[in-house]
Amino acid sequence: MPSKIAIINGPNLNLLGTREPNIYGAQTFADYYEQLQAEFPEVTFSYFQSNIEGELIDELHRVGFSTDGILLNAAAYTHTSVGIGDAIKAIDAPVIEIHISNTFAREDFRHQSYITPNAKGLIVGFGLNSYRLGVQSLVG
Ligand code: DQA
Repeated sequence: MPSKIAIINGPNLNLLGTREPNIYGAQTFADYYEQLQAEFPEVTFSYFQSNIEGELIDELHRVGFSTDGILLNAAAYTHTSVGIGDAIKAIDAPVIEIHISNTFAREDFRHQSYITPNAKGLIVGFGLNSYRLGVQSLVG
């Protein structure tokens, strides 16, 4: 049973709750994260958010050899970052790609992902519940 799960959020996800609430909902991630921790008391979570590509890569390197699984929402970098895709290949921990919105129901540029080919799985379009499903996929 995995006990250590890292959540990594990319650019603009610090604004969850106020950013385009019609797409991303009205709840802040801090609030949601508290609920998630309460729901899975057996799991030790870490949380990291950055708007900077290299910092996301550094965090993948930092947790990628010592954690049981990573939930990664690389946000806009999903669609552009060869570097984040390569970082996933370079680490040991399985990565679950997470998206709040259904990226396949949105603009064409959101259909491309540098994460998916290197991820263990992909959870898309369930709102913040996508993260909960990601945890369940690792602990189940
Ligand atoms: C997102 C989808 C991306 O296309 C977008 O750039 C984001 C958030 C999501 O969780 O739905 O910032 O990753």
